[in-house]
Amino acid sequence: MSDDLKSEVVNTGTNRRRFLQWTLGGLLFGGFVVAANVVLRYLMPTPPRLEKADEVAIPVSQIPPGSSLMLKHQGSPVLAVHTDQGISAFSAVCTHLGCLVKWMPGEKIFYCPCHAGKFDSTGQVVAGPPPEPLHPVKFEIVDDNIIFL
Ligand code: FES
Repeated sequence: MSDDLKSEVVNTGTNRRRFLQWTLGGLLFGGFVVAANVVLRYLMPTPPRLEKADEVAIPVSQIPPGSSLMLKHQGSPVLAVHTDQGISAFSAVCTHLGCLVKWMPGEKIFYCPCHAGKFDSTGQVVAGPPPEPLHPVKFEIVDDNIIFL
């Protein structure tokens, strides 16, 4: 085999090796980016849109028995519910990692969809990883209006 032919064979092998190294590196980097995105979305979920914007007073009739209303008060999401015990309101921010909880009228619990945290109708933790109860939000009922304090 001539020296020119040997050199060409060696160069082809080197180019193929470099191509495979770059391709493998790109695939590993892409996999890392996808995995990091999944982990970040798990740890910092996107909050859902709120139905009401910064209202401090809402008519009681907007929360019929058995229903709930998500609203924003002083810049924070609040979930007001009307149970058999009456109306109550809690911060809708889960005490685990800050996802928004929602009221499940059938089970009469607050449910956090991020890690399956569950709170009873008084805000106490009944299942899942939340370390403390939901934070209550103070309000008064004046002339059939719920006034958040
Ligand atoms: S954020 Fe984890 S259970 Fe609510």
